[in-house]
Amino acid sequence: MLRRVLLTAARSNRIKRTVVRAPLSRGMIDRFVAGESLEDAMVATRQLVAHGLLVSIDRLGESTTDGVQAQATADAYVQLLDAIAAAGLSEFAEVSLKLSSLGQALMSDGEQIALDHARTVCAAAKAAGTTVTLDMEDHTTTDATLGALRQLRADFPDVGAVLQAYLRRTESDCRDLAGEGSRIRLCKGAYREPSSVAYQAQAEVDLSYVRCLRVLMHGKGYPMVATHDPRLVAIAAAMALQAGRERNEYEYQMLFGVRPDEQRRLATRGEKVRVYLPYGTEWYPYLTRRLAERPANLAFFLRAVASRR
Ligand code: FDA
Repeated sequence: MLRRVLLTAARSNRIKRTVVRAPLSRGMIDRFVAGESLEDAMVATRQLVAHGLLVSIDRLGESTTDGVQAQATADAYVQLLDAIAAAGLSEFAEVSLKLSSLGQALMSDGEQIALDHARTVCAAAKAAGTTVTLDMEDHTTTDATLGALRQLRADFPDVGAVLQAYLRRTESDCRDLAGEGSRIRLCKGAYREPSSVAYQAQAEVDLSYVRCLRVLMHGKGYPMVATHDPRLVAIAAAMALQAGRERNEYEYQMLFGVRPDEQRRLATRGEKVRVYLPYGTEWYPYLTRRLAERPANLAFFLRAVASRR
């Protein structure tokens, strides 16, 4: 119930205006977001890399309905990729990209505009010696995002994509995308979805995650196991072993600020662990989804608000 309310709030401009103006403690935002500037993202990236972690940097922003904004987002990603290369971090840091931030939802020709911008970002990533992973948004965009993935991979085969285990279609998508070299990040899914397309019970989502992971681990691609769930992390380790995968043939991924001790513990054990690191001013929908995932995060949020009174 609470999750549904928060996920609805994530899409509400009225609630957004109220929350963004509220005197929140920086601590709440800083826990999940690197900061507002490119420099903040680079500082946080260096710190994570110093702890043996890999990074996927996300410039916050989504649901752009303004062509100028979409162009500005593409430019900002090119700048980010230049900064990664200049800092000598290409081996450790890639970028995560939401097609909606590049104009996918623009009224006329949004999909083509987003694809063109994504091509520019992929070319910049190639020049920088690193990769791009396309985030997955709500189910109305899944086909368009996978279509864009196919087109981008024709020129940039290392472009990764995200599949969401809560969608009923995902096991089949995993089969389609488990081919040679295919980088697939498997997560549970973070949006409010109807039961016609998505499993609603947590146990059903978890079971779907295991089925999807089995397909990816036994396939020929590169699985990216994006979860903080200790049971799924343990299952992934067992499956990787069973599938005969070496430690550099898959990786774990977790969000910045979520289970940081576990991130380091896995890395210390010799596992590849990548931290999803968001930065920028458009933190509201991202933060609200994190609150929806975990009541303890909400308590932290409310304490932060109360502490300012
Ligand atoms: P879940 O939230 O169900 O938690 C399971 C268990 O993990 C908990 O019971 C607890 O034991 C442990 N746990 C979780 N949070 C914890 C915390 N803060 N402290 C301690 N223990 C904790 N979604 C999407 O729709 N599209 C996308 O593109 C992406 N991209 C993405 C990238 C990466 C790298 C990650 C890690 C996640 C995403 N997601 C996403 C978000 C994803 O779909 C999902 O909402 C969150 O990862 C939360 O799901 P979990 O698998 O962590 O399990």
